[in-house]
Amino acid sequence: MGFFIFMRQKNTREKKKGEQIVVEEQVIVEVQEAETMQVYEMMPLRRPMNDNMERIADMTEEFSQTIDPILRMYNAALCATTARLEIIEDEFQYRKLRCPIHHIDTRLKSAKSILGKLQKKDLDLTLGAACNNIYDIAGIRVVCSYMKDVYLIRDRIVAQDDIYIMEIKDYIKEPKKNGYRSLHMTVRVPVYFMNKKQMVPVELQIRTLAMDLWASLEHDIKYKSLYQAGDTDFSDELKECSRLIYEAEKKMEVMNAMLEA
Ligand code: GTP
Ligand code: MG
Repeated sequence: MGFFIFMRQKNTREKKKGEQIVVEEQVIVEVQEAETMQVYEMMPLRRPMNDNMERIADMTEEFSQTIDPILRMYNAALCATTARLEIIEDEFQYRKLRCPIHHIDTRLKSAKSILGKLQKKDLDLTLGAACNNIYDIAGIRVVCSYMKDVYLIRDRIVAQDDIYIMEIKDYIKEPKKNGYRSLHMTVRVPVYFMNKKQMVPVELQIRTLAMDLWASLEHDIKYKSLYQAGDTDFSDELKECSRLIYEAEKKMEVMNAMLEA
């Protein structure tokens, strides 16, 4: 897969791998990598907390309550990142240039879906495990008109030196086998929440309108096929649609390039 890691800045106050931090009575969080989040500092003090949650059905309610301040912090990260994207939009408006961003969608993962993902990944059902292993709790989709806009947005994000780039997966250069195309970035953005700075992970999916059309319809078709009896495997057709869409958007990008030259 076409993925690479940017390591642009190092936080000298980071804990070393394997080091443990004791944050509350009885609660020990193993620091798993250089950039972990210290989530328990945000928990109400002396609140009894079951950090060894075993039965997903019984714990959703408790988990939802415990994770509430954490989700607010992720929501703050969504707002902070969206604000940076809106500043880019505003710059292009000011320069009287075509805006590289067509629209932006945001979503915050629910407590239930976080628990589901922890279970799927066979991880401990704890807040520490959620914050340090699930990087799409805050998700932003940036939909652009043309492919060159996708890379312009990527470069503008990379250039912001207080954003930490964790990973970039370029499914445009190397589409997934099923035809999925998009640029995924996992970044950490600084958020001041409850008087503490945290570098909160945000997943950015940057794609064109055409890629977004394919991904939305593929998601819909795949979901519906799951509930259909019989032979409803549209994998080849979906892959062909992805190719046709790519050809069409490439042609339209050439037309636009001639007009913007
Ligand atoms: P997780 O991050 O653990 O979910 O897995 P991953 O890192 O292997 O996934 P990846 O970063 O490749 O994709 C994450 C998100 O991209 C998904 O939750 C979808 O929103 C989107 N995505 C990835 N592949 C597809 C696909 O084939 N079709 C559609 N419609 N969306 C996809
Ligand atoms: Mg991912």
